[in-house]
Amino acid sequence: MKVTDFILTVFCPILFFSIGVNSVDRHNFKTCEQSNFCKRCRSMNKSQNSMFHLVSDSIILNDKYLEAIIANTNYENVFLRMRLDGLKDKTLRVRINENGNPMYNRFQPVHALVSEPIFQSMTMARNETTIELELEQSTIKVFINIIPFKLNVYVHDELIIGINHNNLMQFEHYRPKPETIPDNEVGSWEEFFKEHQDSKPRGPSAVSMDFTLYSSTHLYGLPEHADSFYLKETSGSDPYRFYNLDVFEYELYNTMALYGAVPFLMGHGKKNSVGLFWLNAAETWVDIAGVNNNVDHTSVVESIVNLVSGSSGEKEVPQAHFMSESGIIDFFIMLGPKPMDVTRQYSLLTGTAPLPPIFSLAYHQCRWNYNDQKDVHNVETNFDVYDIPMDVMWLDIEHTDSKKYFTWDPIKFSNPIEMIRNLTNKGRKLVTIVDPHIKRDSNYFLHNDALNNDLYVKNKDGNVYEGWCWPGSSSYLDFLNPKVQEYYVSRFSFNNYVGSNEDLYIWNDMNEPSVFNGPEVTMPKDCIHYGNYEHRDIHNIYGLMQVMSTYEGLIKRSKGNKRPFILTRSHFAGTQRFAAVWTGDNIAEWSHLKISIPMCLSLAISGISFCGADVGGFFNNPDKELFIRWYQTGTYLPFFRGHSHIDTKRREPWLFDEQTTSLVRETIRTRYSLLPLWYTLFRNHELTGAPVIRPLFFEFPFEDNVNNIDNQFMIGNSLLVCPVTEPNVQEISIYFPGKDEVWYDKDNFQPIKINGFVKIPVPINKIPVYQRGGTIIPIKQRVRRSSSLMKDDPYTLMVGIDLKGTAKGSLYIDDEDSFEYRDGKFIHLEYEFINNQLISKCIHCITLTTNSWLEKVMIIGIPSVFSKASIHSKEGSTTELTVLYSASNQVLTIRKPSINIAQNWTIILL
Ligand code: NOJ
Repeated sequence: MKVTDFILTVFCPILFFSIGVNSVDRHNFKTCEQSNFCKRCRSMNKSQNSMFHLVSDSIILNDKYLEAIIANTNYENVFLRMRLDGLKDKTLRVRINENGNPMYNRFQPVHALVSEPIFQSMTMARNETTIELELEQSTIKVFINIIPFKLNVYVHDELIIGINHNNLMQFEHYRPKPETIPDNEVGSWEEFFKEHQDSKPRGPSAVSMDFTLYSSTHLYGLPEHADSFYLKETSGSDPYRFYNLDVFEYELYNTMALYGAVPFLMGHGKKNSVGLFWLNAAETWVDIAGVNNNVDHTSVVESIVNLVSGSSGEKEVPQAHFMSESGIIDFFIMLGPKPMDVTRQYSLLTGTAPLPPIFSLAYHQCRWNYNDQKDVHNVETNFDVYDIPMDVMWLDIEHTDSKKYFTWDPIKFSNPIEMIRNLTNKGRKLVTIVDPHIKRDSNYFLHNDALNNDLYVKNKDGNVYEGWCWPGSSSYLDFLNPKVQEYYVSRFSFNNYVGSNEDLYIWNDMNEPSVFNGPEVTMPKDCIHYGNYEHRDIHNIYGLMQVMSTYEGLIKRSKGNKRPFILTRSHFAGTQRFAAVWTGDNIAEWSHLKISIPMCLSLAISGISFCGADVGGFFNNPDKELFIRWYQTGTYLPFFRGHSHIDTKRREPWLFDEQTTSLVRETIRTRYSLLPLWYTLFRNHELTGAPVIRPLFFEFPFEDNVNNIDNQFMIGNSLLVCPVTEPNVQEISIYFPGKDEVWYDKDNFQPIKINGFVKIPVPINKIPVYQRGGTIIPIKQRVRRSSSLMKDDPYTLMVGIDLKGTAKGSLYIDDEDSFEYRDGKFIHLEYEFINNQLISKCIHCITLTTNSWLEKVMIIGIPSVFSKASIHSKEGSTTELTVLYSASNQVLTIRKPSINIAQNWTIILL
């Protein structure tokens, strides 16, 4: 393609966008029908018996795992090797690979795993037809059918999940290319999409498996898709697709691929939740069937009959069919039984997010682009002028010298260190963008280093691959290569990244990788990576590999002292260990505001809690109502950043009218007051895997009514949030879950005790947020310019009592940005309100001191029988406290307990 053609093809959409045409060009992206392996796997016949059998005399069980050879009845001399592991915490793993030495190595994306999973022993019994495995004191049983190969997993004798029940297992072994390719195999050896040819020199290599989730009624997960939170039937549409892509103006409520791929699915039913993790980095499609039906549980006897007969019975039960283009079959089953158990089990495999530095939980201000240092300075000082807190200024691609990452535009950003100092003077930080494409410019050190040291991805002919991205002609670092990893890590040292210092953090964008002139805007599948893997094999993990090296780079530059902060667009299972994720290039439309909630919820239950969407919408210009509502929603999502496209109008919060500025100020200030809660929840997430924001069914797993709700969510177990995501509404219907719950309106403390839908008036200043009775929330009421200026400020405890008059909560404190907390330098307090006493218990207070004190306690929902209070320290001192009671909202305020926060004490109401 000529450069002029390229410019037209690539930039025309941007021109269209400017005149207001908003929708994805679907023709740029494949359907299942156009993806030959998807078509092949999808057309497999459920009613035809599976071609895979266990070879009876090959079955071996040592005390940790079962191994067996699988024969393929369609190919006499083709064998697979299966291994089933029992893992710690009610988890099973099954791996199936080619036996012996296949023609090509099959890629295994172990980088997604936090460490080698921990085994637990199993016992085995077998007869001619079936193998029975038992683990966890026989509470878990696995029945394996030998001919054909199928599995059933039971917990407490209840069938939870069946594997290959629909006979959709596939494993296309590598084979020599036939001299003449039969007509029906042409697409397996070469595939065309638009003007692109995929040469497929290695031929067909797909793998697939079907899963029947007998104990579930609903399925969730499989991010990233711009779709409802609960998964939908795919029989009338394409399957959910995983192929990390830079999708221009993505469409909502469909199963098209987006920037990230987390092949994790959660099944949920009244009695049981179950997790399924398909560890494969190649293009993957997932068909979903049988969802949203109420099903009875199948009995053991009935299901053994079904296991052998291959029938799943008459009832429709949720099913998932995973199909990947290459790699091995490698899946994990996590047996819950509750949603929170499944997330913990999944986080044991892929890890949790390390506690983020607190500034990264505060408000971020971004735009493509802030023009120069002066612009940055004006914007950040205006935040002070308008009294709006802000922690981080961001610089997009234009800050570089001609899109060469790790450099600065010599005129516009001539003194980055001074620019950063201006920010840090007010406790603020800077983030710069670092994309994975490298400008092919012989004056660019990075390009020269990459050429000289063989650091680039190769094309199918073995030459350096060249594609187009922001800088024009670009090549792509091969992050799978340890040499590249080491090199990339060193780029972030202060000596190498001139103009950076420890207050500069990183944004990894375009890392799907985005290639403007590539097939589906990405790299050709026949490109070659380190280890002689094709790009086809590793595609979905490319972004994760970049982020891993960036993370390591930020760790190394501070000698392991400071916590990194990275934002990434492309993601995979395990990305949470290194970076936050945002939902990419959304549009300033109400529907995009709305979808940000299910998109982040899906990520949160799939391990990636640190998620947000571009506040205000990336493309187009929001009107003031949308702008306000978006800030109100963003306040309650974990990653909170305003961002906009280069062609949009400037939209810093003071550029609208006074009301808008004031409402945006108010909501951002609310975010700052809640930072102690966010921080405590992220600490809890790091330790337990519990998602920071949660769908309602996590807290109310037995309440059917909540299973389809995806416009409301919980922050931890304490706040119920239902942001307004529709224009011009006077009131909205909010579902209040739980039979014996009371919910307190965060603004006026009015209690709601109804279990069901309630109509709530939502004037423009109203964000419906409710504190759950029975919880205690730590907040800071003195909001300052940035989070670090609030470090030593006093705390207020919001005690919302439940119907029994009790409440519980906790508070976590540390230095907010270093790793010293890992050496025990932190404060952990547990609070309990019981018998009209509020008790503060220091769980861990020895190694760190704080200047923060307890400023106020508000007890919400308390009858007016108390007129006095006293505080008793552990050392025996007693002080009388002033209390103020508001009968209209039943709130008792205890002023100035004036005690250091890291103490044991009891406040007694008298
Ligand atoms: C694409 C990203 O999604 C967007 O946020 C960014 O502004 C542009 N790339 C330019 O870097």
